[in-house]
Amino acid sequence: MTEARLFQPGRIGSIDIANRVVMAPLTRSRADEAAGDLPGSDIHVEYYRQRSGAGLIISEGTQVSPQGKGYMATPGIYSDAQVEGWKRVTAAVHQAGSKILAQIWHVGRITHPALTGGLPPLAPSAIAPRGVVAYTHQGKVDIPVPQAMNQQQISAVVNEFRRAAANALRAGFDGVEIHGANGYLIDQFLRDGANQRDDAYGGSVAGRCKLALEIVDAVVAEIGASRVGIRLSPLTPFNDLADSDPQRTFEHLVAELDRRGIAFVHFIEGATGGARDLPGFDYAKARKSFRGAYIANNGYDRAMALDAVESGRVDAVAFGRPFIANPDLVQRLRLNAALSAPDPSTFYTPGPVGYVDYPTLDAQAQTA
Ligand code: PHB
Repeated sequence: MTEARLFQPGRIGSIDIANRVVMAPLTRSRADEAAGDLPGSDIHVEYYRQRSGAGLIISEGTQVSPQGKGYMATPGIYSDAQVEGWKRVTAAVHQAGSKILAQIWHVGRITHPALTGGLPPLAPSAIAPRGVVAYTHQGKVDIPVPQAMNQQQISAVVNEFRRAAANALRAGFDGVEIHGANGYLIDQFLRDGANQRDDAYGGSVAGRCKLALEIVDAVVAEIGASRVGIRLSPLTPFNDLADSDPQRTFEHLVAELDRRGIAFVHFIEGATGGARDLPGFDYAKARKSFRGAYIANNGYDRAMALDAVESGRVDAVAFGRPFIANPDLVQRLRLNAALSAPDPSTFYTPGPVGYVDYPTLDAQAQTA
């Protein structure tokens, strides 16, 4: 019997992958904040090593600057010490036979000065997200109205993404995923619910896509298109974001990404962590108009993933929450074994509990 295509090797850009199961980016808030948002602690390394059965791991979002941070204890990728920490993670993943990309991230308006060392949130326009709070060491706080970015601030952020990509390669990553999804900075520029600018970075669809494409161009110039992808979520309402015409906005963006020859697009289909069947964007059409790889995410189970890859509708499927509770997820999918359920109460808590203590099938069998 030949193995299902989901479990067969593939290639994303210039990256050879052992199977088409991708570990999705997951914020876990275990960085060493006091030492400067450092990755690379023993449990951080162990967490990724345990999940190296994935054909490709996409790291948790890693901020490109202090001002781009929106949650407690998320790791950065702008300092030399952070690069040194990430080297420990990438070495462990490579030694275990997998590949790993850095997800490079700027949260834009989804933050609070208590998380950024006192810096104000940045955004395309001075519009606060409604119904979104920031989680700080002082508890839940309202998010202030962000600063509308000027040209100098926009150029600085583009350079931060460029530096993050260079740092990612120095740290041993196989490439980067630009975080263009979920209502963070790039997505705030893309969708007109947050972008009400009347300059070159707003207004028309092309204007709203300008920041995303400048960042892609800077990152591609730094590390080459074959190691670059982007995550998009045209329909998600997460972080109070919406667009008046997602089909038009994201069709334009995907066409421009295709012209640049980047390695992949990674779509969150529907609402992040929620309903898949929202109307307003044709993912299959996007897939046909993009020559690189298409990574699909959001609520896939085994049967859906097998079918999506077998039919050629997608090249790979990214799993998020299932990877939290099942370090050996690929093995379990292969065997059609039961999956453990993740415990949301430890998603963002410090330390090893709920992080590196989920058992593999083998470990479960030994204790049964
Ligand atoms: C989160 O930390 O809750 C989070 C971070 C990045 C995302 C989505 C959620 O894209």
